Amino acid sequence: MTTVAPVALRRKVELTIDGEAVTTREGATILEACRASGIEVPTLCYLETLAPVNACRVCVVEVDGSRALVPACSRPVAPGMVVHTGSERVRTSRRMVLELLASSVDLSTAEGDVHRWIDEYGAQPGRHGPPAAPTERDRARAGEHEPPAVGLAATVAQAVKRDNDQYVRDYSKCILCYKCVEACGEEAQNTFAIAVAGRGFDARISTELDVALPDSACVYCGNCIAVCPTGALMFVSEHDLRARGEWDESRQDVTRTVCPYCGVGCNLELHVQDNRIVKVTSPLDHDVTGGNLCVKGRFGFEFAQGD
Ligand code: SF4
Ligand code: SF4
Ligand code: FES
Repeated sequence: MTTVAPVALRRKVELTIDGEAVTTREGATILEACRASGIEVPTLCYLETLAPVNACRVCVVEVDGSRALVPACSRPVAPGMVVHTGSERVRTSRRMVLELLASSVDLSTAEGDVHRWIDEYGAQPGRHGPPAAPTERDRARAGEHEPPAVGLAATVAQAVKRDNDQYVRDYSKCILCYKCVEACGEEAQNTFAIAVAGRGFDARISTELDVALPDSACVYCGNCIAVCPTGALMFVSEHDLRARGEWDESRQDVTRTVCPYCGVGCNLELHVQDNRIVKVTSPLDHDVTGGNLCVKGRFGFEFAQGD
């Protein structure tokens, strides 16, 4: 059994990042060392409350002596390590990742940073061709990627799944970051209602046997929605407001309060637009809940507005 020293007792590690000497704690990742030094490294599949899965590779950096680029979100620092976060090789790799994602997936509702990175790294998704017409991707034969029509780019377009009153799943926006699977599984909820099905081009997030959400093991905690970076998983309220062109974050207030349903005291962030709660999140840095809630805290807000 490996014994891990408490954070306060861990040794210091000295390394070089972009030519600057940096000191951090033993066991920290390159990403943590970069952030502590004020260096931005883009991430998509990483979240501080989840174990790194190395799925997106947008965080790669160059490390002297390493043949391949390394994912900053999971690679621990080492004494004397020399890291380059902005070399041409790094920028080319990040540009390619962003370009491939943005050309095959609808990123229109992705976190704002994604669009900034697409600009900063000069990604040009359009050079892969216009998107193919929507297909029912989940119905494709396992192992068989549906070829796009000539001159069009293959995408993951498919119909929005709306099979319950709480949230919609729009997997045409899914970048397969695995965060929802982690949140539904052993990283938080331990419900295992969703997993990655298929392989290669056919890999997709699915309930068991692709059953509708009400027929699955889902308990509607919404912890998957909370970690999704692209809006593939979205409150019905937000989805409908966006569909009507009425979603406007500049008109929203976020109020932190305590969930009234039980004695655990989870913190809620109520997102309110036009005097109505339009979605509920929970602060990631809360030491009890770490951003997670149950169905009551996440979705049981209708009583407050007489619905
Ligand atoms: S709402 Fe909760 S239980 Fe349902 S799929 Fe998402 S994380 Fe799993
Ligand atoms: S649905 Fe969202 S959280 Fe889940 S894998 Fe796709 S992008 Fe990631
Ligand atoms: S953020 Fe590091 S691999 Fe995705």
